[in-house]
Amino acid sequence: MAESVTVRAPCSTANLGPGFDVFGLALDAYYDQIQLKKEGTGIKIQSFDSIPIELEKNSAGLVIKEMARKFKIKTGLVLKIKKGVPTGFGMGSSAASAAAAAVAFDVLFKLKLDSNSLVQYAGMGEMASAGSVHYDNVAASVLGGFVVVRTNPLDVIRATPPKDLILCIAIPKILVPQKKTEVSRKALPKQVKLSDHVKNLSNASALTAGFMKKDVSLIGSSINDIIVEPARKHMIPGFDKVKKNALDAGAMGVTISGAGPSVISFTSISANPKRIADAMKKGFAAAGIECTTVICKPSKGASVV
Ligand code: HSE
Repeated sequence: MAESVTVRAPCSTANLGPGFDVFGLALDAYYDQIQLKKEGTGIKIQSFDSIPIELEKNSAGLVIKEMARKFKIKTGLVLKIKKGVPTGFGMGSSAASAAAAAVAFDVLFKLKLDSNSLVQYAGMGEMASAGSVHYDNVAASVLGGFVVVRTNPLDVIRATPPKDLILCIAIPKILVPQKKTEVSRKALPKQVKLSDHVKNLSNASALTAGFMKKDVSLIGSSINDIIVEPARKHMIPGFDKVKKNALDAGAMGVTISGAGPSVISFTSISANPKRIADAMKKGFAAAGIECTTVICKPSKGASVV
């Protein structure tokens, strides 16, 4: 049996507008890499990146701890984490590590878990950063492509995105609060108006249809959320201008990436993604904020390297 395995998992964007906690899309912009090795006693984390190395405070550590407990693994384990996904910017950073950890554990111990079980274990890692379990980012990082998450029982539906779908992401250089996801979840309304729910549900349904039909313009025009985005956008200085600039430059849909503060535009390969990215950068600049822009495509899921 192999004594060590290395797995790479992509970053992701969650929610895609109306699909709060339900939709995820894996992106080829950044990857986290995890090496899981049988060594010594207990479970240890090693990393050169500035991340927590206590098991319970690290999304990958939490996953390995839970899986070792569940499968009664007593072997000592060393978890080497190499972060590629920026932490705290709405790109599913904790989820990428958690997804890589779940897949690495599955491969190292030849468990051959099904997709839903892998996502379930990876989701436990979200407790470390979000303070609650949600599966949209981890499902995308584990499985790749576009995912729809149903819970109780957990059931993830995956679709391969259209080849011509392009994403432009603006990552603002702002200080994000510790436990940002937890903080930004507290900003959300506890109750919503039925008419708002109907509007979001219609867009969420159309968005899923867009992925199934591989229709980029249907996907783009469905990125429309009147519940979560209005409640969170005050945490992103310049958001309205960034969004308007992107739409004026040809983006088909624009929203907050996951819990933010990154902003993501959906467009087609036939548009001018560079122009959209530059327009987003100008939007943030108008609010006095510097940002990094990334133009990327959907990614496949976590895999052994
Ligand atoms: N669906 C989650 C949220 C994604 O928006 O809070 C963040 O990780």
